[in-house]
Amino acid sequence: MKKILRLNDLAKKDVDLVIAARKAADNAYAPYSGFAVGAAARTTEGAIHIGANLENASYGLALCAEVSALTAANTSGDFDRLEAIAVVGFNFFPEMHLSEIVTPCGRCRQLISESAQLSGTDIIVFAGSGDLERIEQHKISELLPHAFGPQSLQSSNPTKPTTAGRTAENHKRHVSKR
Ligand code: THU
Repeated sequence: MKKILRLNDLAKKDVDLVIAARKAADNAYAPYSGFAVGAAARTTEGAIHIGANLENASYGLALCAEVSALTAANTSGDFDRLEAIAVVGFNFFPEMHLSEIVTPCGRCRQLISESAQLSGTDIIVFAGSGDLERIEQHKISELLPHAFGPQSLQSSNPTKPTTAGRTAENHKRHVSKR
C-alpha cells in the first residue's frame, strides 16, 4: 500500500507543483465526462509547465491534462529536462467529488516515461485528490515498470531520421542522450 501524504509532508517546490496542477484543473474543458484534471511538470531548473484536459464532442479525441503539460514543456524545449509532474483530478458533474486520488492513465505513463528516458531522470509523479487532502508520490518507473522507450529502439535503428519540425540540432541532442 502506498503511503498517503499531506501537503505539509512535501517540500515547498513540490507543494507549489501540486497547487499549480490543481489550479490548472479549474481550466479543464470536460463537459462530457464531468471530470477535471490538471497537470504541472517541473524542470530541473524549476520551470513549471501546466496543462488541463481538453475534451471534444467527438468523445474519443479527449486530450489528457498530462499530454497538455508535456506538450507545453516540449514547446518550450523542456521535454528532456523534467524531474517531476503533479496530477490532480476531480468529478465536478453531476456532482462535486474531490476526495479520490487521480493517477496518470496508461498512455500518459508512457509519455512521461519517454521524457524520463531522455533525461535519464526517474521522474517523480505526485498524484493528488481534488481537495489536495491526499497525495501519493511515485516514480514513473514504479507506475510503468519495464517500459518500452527510446532505449528499446536504439539497437534496431540508431539513426532514425528526424521528425518534421524538429531541428537537426535538437534531434541530435535527443538521440545522443539515448
Ligand atoms: N484524464 C486526464 O486528463 N488524465 C488522466 O491521466 C486520466 C484521464 C481525463 C481524460 C478525460 O477528459 C477525463 O479525464 C475522464 O477520463
